[in-house]
Amino acid sequence: MSGAGAKGDRTAVLFVCLGNICRSPLAEGLFVHLAARLGVSDRFEADSAGTGAWHVGRPADPRTIAVGLAHGVPVPSIARQVDPRTDFERFDLIVAMDRSNRTDLLDLGAPRERVRLMRSYDPSLAGASESGLDVPDPYLGRGDGFELVYAMLLRSTEGLLDELLRARR
Ligand code: 4NP
Repeated sequence: MSGAGAKGDRTAVLFVCLGNICRSPLAEGLFVHLAARLGVSDRFEADSAGTGAWHVGRPADPRTIAVGLAHGVPVPSIARQVDPRTDFERFDLIVAMDRSNRTDLLDLGAPRERVRLMRSYDPSLAGASESGLDVPDPYLGRGDGFELVYAMLLRSTEGLLDELLRARR
């Protein structure tokens, strides 16, 4: 579901974090996995990217891959940096993992109306203040941070797909 090319009538979603090795690759993997399970893969394109360039060309963090596999979710992402020249035109929706990622995206020129916070799609957080909507960066923490991030991303991805599918009806 990821990748380049004309998106046609597919809704194209870009997940963005800082390094593109922990949070956004898992969000992308979950989105692809859940869309396939719902039988709607042909309606979407998904990709992920980082605002930073430190890990470009590398697979996701081994802890990200492990937590995905533990839940049956492949995480095949190879890290890349956000490309303002193409990404802001190509993607219908740009989903930031935290407020800092969102600020960076807007500073790079991302269209405000297409940038959203990932956890704003979690129905259990409806009405929560924005300060409670960050997906915490698990990179420097202990391994259990990845399970927590997985649970947050699962609820958010379910809400995101639900909203996108309702909008397309
Ligand atoms: P991510 O986590 O943004 O969820 O991929 C990070 C991974 C690496 C770094 C920062 C955040 N780093 O500074 O290397």
